[in-house]
Amino acid sequence: MKESQELFRRARLKMPGGGCAGGRIHRVLERPLYLERAEGSHIVTVDGEEYIDYHCGAGGILFGFNHPRLKEAIRKCVEKGFFMNFDSDYTLEFAELFTKLVPTVEKIRLTNSGTEATMAAIRLARAYTGKDLILKMDGHFHGMHEMIWYNGGVGTDLDEYGEARNVIPETPGFPQGAENHVKLIEFNNPYAVEHAFEKYKGRIAAIIMEPVNYDCGCVPSTKKYMKRVRELCSREETLLIFDEVISGLRFRPGSAQGYYGVQPDLSTFAKAVANGFSLALIGGREEIMDLLNPVGPVVCSGTSSGNLMSVMAGIECLKMALEPGFYDKIEETEQMLCGGIDDLFRKHKVPGHVRSHGAQFALYFGYEEPELDYTLSETVKRFRPDLYRQFVKECLAEHLYFYYGGDKPFPHHCGFTSAHTKEDVEITLEKMDRIFRKMKF
Ligand SMILES: Cc1ncc(COP(=O)(O)O)c(C=O)c1O
Repeated sequence: MKESQELFRRARLKMPGGGCAGGRIHRVLERPLYLERAEGSHIVTVDGEEYIDYHCGAGGILFGFNHPRLKEAIRKCVEKGFFMNFDSDYTLEFAELFTKLVPTVEKIRLTNSGTEATMAAIRLARAYTGKDLILKMDGHFHGMHEMIWYNGGVGTDLDEYGEARNVIPETPGFPQGAENHVKLIEFNNPYAVEHAFEKYKGRIAAIIMEPVNYDCGCVPSTKKYMKRVRELCSREETLLIFDEVISGLRFRPGSAQGYYGVQPDLSTFAKAVANGFSLALIGGREEIMDLLNPVGPVVCSGTSSGNLMSVMAGIECLKMALEPGFYDKIEETEQMLCGGIDDLFRKHKVPGHVRSHGAQFALYFGYEEPELDYTLSETVKRFRPDLYRQFVKECLAEHLYFYYGGDKPFPHHCGFTSAHTKEDVEITLEKMDRIFRKMKF
């Protein structure tokens, strides 16, 4: 721990809170986890401690760390001159592969982060529809910008129609009145969407949602709800934006939208599309995408957008996701790991359960009924952050890395990668067996 403690001491002098981002501070460690290297499913700290990783770079890593194919792509990129602010045949190859993998995406525009992608999607929706309001689901996260970062899902006061009485910025510093452009409703509540369309008739430019709300654990949309949202958006000439920044590439076929069989008008992707390299995108129907400059008037551009290294890494990721067997392995690991943890909850009579969807999962300490996970307010009433904190602490002692961002009334999303082996899972379950035996409820 000596190296880490010394780094943290120095870091606090030069960075607010000692981290390059607020979320880097692990709230059990009360400092960042300082890595020395990472390989496959394993991470090694500057103190020489090795962990099996279940945080996966907050969803950035799907193919494991230091993947040989990505290493080779980066080596090639460096040989080519490691350029940015130019397009190349690789940019086109990425676009062709992506539109093959996600068929609702007819054209793409590259950005550097999910935040930029959702900003562009919302801007585009307003420009395309000529309407102003954006309808957001309670608890869904789409980046930290003024267009959409309101009500983090912690006790939103909903009225009898499932609409938030107040739309509250998640941070000080937003311009006054920015919140008036956003309306917020309860997720998975079809009456709330119907009511919002009636109340704000002709004013809603877009509904933006995570198809699976990983930012409050692992809250899937019901298929019925998703279908209804799609029908209403089409009827009301409102665009449906799927934010697949976390779900992207984590499911077959073609991410969450393929799983639900619902076609969004626009989608945003980031994180796993380049296994954590700074690559994100907005994509969708050609007619809408062609409103972007230089064809249309809507601006979405960036100095480092489509930089060669991220694009070349992204190509390898898309190729791997398209290979037969890739999702078989993901599903096998999901079943073995999440099924195994669920069995341990029952074996040790720990109140709780696991919910997984693709390569992401969440541990719902506090209650045993998975059917309640669909409604955030039910989770918030029952979830036990104290047990989750205790669990994460014990996991760290056993060298299993789970992230803890603070006491929230819902679980943090966890993940695994295609590099997690059967042996990793067996070791994990053995360790968790000991942890659950030790835990006090
Ligand atoms: C669903 C979702 N959308 C958007 C974002 C923002 O992406 P980024 O952190 O790349 O800006 C995140 C980040 O966690 C996310 O989970």
